[in-house]
Amino acid sequence: MIHSRLGFASILGLVLVCAAASACGDENTGGGGAGGNAGAGGSGGSGATGGSGGAGGSGGAGGSGGAGGGSADLVMTEADFDCILDWQKVRSFRITNKLGNIDATLAAANAPGTTDYPVGTVIQLVPFEAMVKRAPGFAAESNDWEFFFLEVSEMGTKIVQRGSTDVVNQFGGNCLDCHKKALPEFDFVCEKGHGCDPLPLTDDEIQMVQNGDPRCPMP
Ligand code: HEC
Repeated sequence: MIHSRLGFASILGLVLVCAAASACGDENTGGGGAGGNAGAGGSGGSGATGGSGGAGGSGGAGGSGGAGGGSADLVMTEADFDCILDWQKVRSFRITNKLGNIDATLAAANAPGTTDYPVGTVIQLVPFEAMVKRAPGFAAESNDWEFFFLEVSEMGTKIVQRGSTDVVNQFGGNCLDCHKKALPEFDFVCEKGHGCDPLPLTDDEIQMVQNGDPRCPMP
């Protein structure tokens, strides 16, 4: 296993070159506005994040509570992001549920195309980009996914941008422009063969970038 910061940096360079050349790269749908920061019902969600299961919704997973169910939301703070190697790996990506509803999240991930991802799902392919499933009504354009562009270091996570329609990565690529090409049954999750233009990264390279997450403890 390679856990090399060097690898992380060089793969980053590779992504940069490719993403800059990509067709998706420069398009920015603009408009849309507000998105992430509005955060209706916010603080409730954050609270649930820190604690054990809570909320949970319909899936019957984890937490004891289940109280409000439908009103649960996940408003991620910088402190909520952590080492993605601690999360479950499903095919190429890392996935968790910060509202404790991990069983429903994994059920969706393991049967792609059968159901939308539940509120509280957090998915990352690489340490500096994340998509987070918010409560219904957050953003129709992205089926309630909130996209994040992050800066990560040994010190932790800094949120550079968050939102639905207008988040771009450091190479100018608009998250939604690419991810909306996934067929509807895949709920904006691209993977491979879901209809998105492919990323020029092999699974080994993706794994190497994940291994280089600077927020993870050195082995
Ligand atoms: C150039 C198109 C493109 C852009 C721009 C892009 N993505 Fe992706 N993204 C993809 C593709 C294709 C995959 C699947 C890669 C694979 O599994 O081989 C992917 C994978 C992911 C995954 C893992 C789940 C999945 O959909 O497979 C997350 C999370 C993700 N991207 C978030 C983001 C965020 C956040 C942004 C913006 C900051 C972003 N992406 C910008 C194309 C793009």
